[in-house]
Amino acid sequence: MKLNEFKLERFFAKYEFKAPYLMCCSDCEAFTVQEILDLEPGAGNSLKAHWLGYTESQGSPALRTEISKLYSKVNPDEILVHSGAEEAIFSFMNVALNPGDHVIVQFPYYQSLYEVARAIGCEISEWKLQQGNRGWELDLDYLKQAIRGNTKAIVINSPHNPTGYLISHSEFEAVIEIAREKNLLLFSDEVYKYLEYAESDRLPWACDVYENAVSLGVMSKSFGLPGLRIGWVATRNREIYTAMAAFKDYTTICNSAPSEFLAEVALRNKKQVLERNLGLIKSNLELLDDFFLRYDSLFIWNRPKAGPIAFPKLNLDKNGEDICTDLVDKKGVLILPGTYYDFGDSYFRLGYGRKNLKACLERFEEYVKENLL
Ligand SMILES: Cc1ncc(COP(=O)(O)O)c(C=O)c1O
Repeated sequence: MKLNEFKLERFFAKYEFKAPYLMCCSDCEAFTVQEILDLEPGAGNSLKAHWLGYTESQGSPALRTEISKLYSKVNPDEILVHSGAEEAIFSFMNVALNPGDHVIVQFPYYQSLYEVARAIGCEISEWKLQQGNRGWELDLDYLKQAIRGNTKAIVINSPHNPTGYLISHSEFEAVIEIAREKNLLLFSDEVYKYLEYAESDRLPWACDVYENAVSLGVMSKSFGLPGLRIGWVATRNREIYTAMAAFKDYTTICNSAPSEFLAEVALRNKKQVLERNLGLIKSNLELLDDFFLRYDSLFIWNRPKAGPIAFPKLNLDKNGEDICTDLVDKKGVLILPGTYYDFGDSYFRLGYGRKNLKACLERFEEYVKENLL
């Protein structure tokens, strides 16, 4: 299998540890090990005594039990823990798809959600989010029409990277209905779940409502713990589960023991962890709302309904990628050009799950005043 370069990850490889003001990251402000241990009396000593042998390949029973509490119909044996969400995407596509299968992928996408299927030799249809007057719109008719005899899977991501689009309850039900009617697999990337600005907008996990759905979760985004590299899938489809469990023997075999332990502590204290992150996002959003109101002739804000990232549009006849490069050179502020999503050069990704958003935005505003007005 020949995989194309993961453009976004190559972009981050170039800038992430050099640019001082990162304003496009998709994770929430990370916690330290100490902060996680402080969530629970005795956790520090338990970590020190933690066994560093090989762990159970499907994930420790204690961790899978904590993860399963997030779901209503899934039990610990239906959770398969991976090294981040990325390993799970790679594994799912490898076991579920064959050359010549047709896959429908929500577009724009986090590249691996498409790229692995492409490299396997699948036919891909891009289910494109459209720029509407009031933000992003999804065309359900397209999905219905795109299904063919060889369609194997639908891949969705909600809350969405990069737009922050959140499928509505009725759209979600329609997607499930379509998948069920055609007996399709539904791979549902839900790594930004719990970051909905209005709790009533939160969707159920796809695997809780559809028996052929594979729901993807991770500690990296909403929980602010990407360094743990703990992700998982939850599915009631036994065939897919068993095949993914066997595939893991060729990737990571099992997970990091200390990471599993820390993930378990964080999940037991999820209310506190998630409240801290959502609180940060909401206060950063107020700053962004003010900013985009001040410069509403320069940008279309496309305010998200969930998550720590947005995909605003530059309303200027200028090359967005050039602006991003000039911005990082002059002000050290990193925003991600839409070209890395193959979505033209007038969009850019903003990240606002971090504590230094105010400082980033001040420098961005200086740049706007000096160069774009
Ligand atoms: C939608 C989506 N899925 C999966 C991943 C991969 O997550 P991880 O870094 O935990 O492997 C990302 C990371 O940015 C993402 O945005």
